[in-house]
Amino acid sequence: MTPLTMIVFGATGDLARRKLYSAIAHNIRSGLLPKDTAVIGISRQQMDDAAFGQLVADSIGGPWPASSRLAYVAGSADQPDLYPDLSQRLKAAPGLHLFYLAVPTHLISAVVGRLADAKLGRSRGRVIIEKPFGVDEASARTLNRSVHRAFAEGQIYRIDHYLGKETVQNILVFRFSNGVMEPLWNRGQIDHVQITAAETIGTEGRSDYYDHAGALRDMVQNHLLQLVALTAMEPPAVFSAQAVRDEKVKVLSAIRPVRTEDAVRGQYQQGRIDGVSVQGYQQEDGVAPDSRRETFAALRLFIDNWRWYGVPFYLRTGKRLPQRATRIQVVFKQPPLDLFEGAAQANVLSIHVQPDERISLEIGAKRPGLGTHVDPVEMNFVYATSFRSASAEAYERLLVDATLGDPTLFAREDEVEAAWRALDPLAQRWDKEAACLPYAAGSWGPQAATALIARDGRHWLDP
Ligand code: BG6
Repeated sequence: MTPLTMIVFGATGDLARRKLYSAIAHNIRSGLLPKDTAVIGISRQQMDDAAFGQLVADSIGGPWPASSRLAYVAGSADQPDLYPDLSQRLKAAPGLHLFYLAVPTHLISAVVGRLADAKLGRSRGRVIIEKPFGVDEASARTLNRSVHRAFAEGQIYRIDHYLGKETVQNILVFRFSNGVMEPLWNRGQIDHVQITAAETIGTEGRSDYYDHAGALRDMVQNHLLQLVALTAMEPPAVFSAQAVRDEKVKVLSAIRPVRTEDAVRGQYQQGRIDGVSVQGYQQEDGVAPDSRRETFAALRLFIDNWRWYGVPFYLRTGKRLPQRATRIQVVFKQPPLDLFEGAAQANVLSIHVQPDERISLEIGAKRPGLGTHVDPVEMNFVYATSFRSASAEAYERLLVDATLGDPTLFAREDEVEAAWRALDPLAQRWDKEAACLPYAAGSWGPQAATALIARDGRHWLDP
């Protein structure tokens, strides 16, 4: 295995503490990363290597693998005086240098600029960059140019952790390894698609970041549009990083920019979830009492290509909703005749991304007994019973892919830009808009979200 040094910018931040260190430790222990992987944490907070070791151990809830070294450099990632020290350390580190940028998007340019000046990227480096990548298409383009000063595109891994989830990777396998799906997967057979990513949590101490991003930039531009892309893309000719990403870019580029009247933004107010009272968004620590940032977004989008023209994709995501659930629901057209008196119903194929990982097809079945009564029943593929092994954490898988140099599950530059392009008109409008519609924590968002889909004679399915 090639020796590995990971340089983590944003080493004391929420993402690193919640996801990254446990994924690295797990991969080292299971032999997916070298036993002697070295980790250098960088952050502004003053502390020594021992205190950093303690922070990491606290984050993972146990000891760090003894075979791996942890070191810490205190400093501001955008200041030049940090880099001579880092250069020195990296000169002595053989193998791959994997830079992990878990810093706010506005700092990324400065960091990669410093890495370029210190000649730390090109030769032995790769970089993983956390989302959101920019705040709109123009800033993403500028950022892409900056990152390219230090790294070639093949060395850049723009992370979207949804792509690391087994259930998300299985979308392409489900569609393209099963011959029965393709003839059904188009505007001739599909009435509409619903994608829901519901969370019960609030801002979880990340208000500084979240109050700038909001639901549209935090969830829709990346995770939800990735789900759209995988659901809607054409089959690639081969299963390679380039071919898969080419097809995703094509479908993202075919999304008609979303109009304001096709979208609803909401902000949670005080309410109850699972019987527990929770405060409103504006009362959260670090959120301005007059914040207009959305914590809920619902939208209707169209893909203007041969396969999907006219088929609405309804997307919704929000914080403080009644349950945690991410689902893709493909609703097929009704049968042409209602032979069984009022029983004709649309089949729904549900890809349950999380937490209850499965794929189900809702069909009509004859209720046993006299007469012909049709009841909806489910055909189910359940991960937990079909495969008795637990799925890897998304970050574990993605870290391994980045060290192996496989970018299939990462977003390419044109992919990120195309995703922004679809949402930019809406995001700009929302940035200027005076208010968000209120919804009670524990509800399914503002009434207007129900109206958005009801306008087309449809309704949100239970996720
Ligand atoms: C992150 C967002 O990318 O995804 C968070 O920044 C969100 O706001 C999280 O909570 C959801 O991830 P998951 O894997 O729990 O669906």
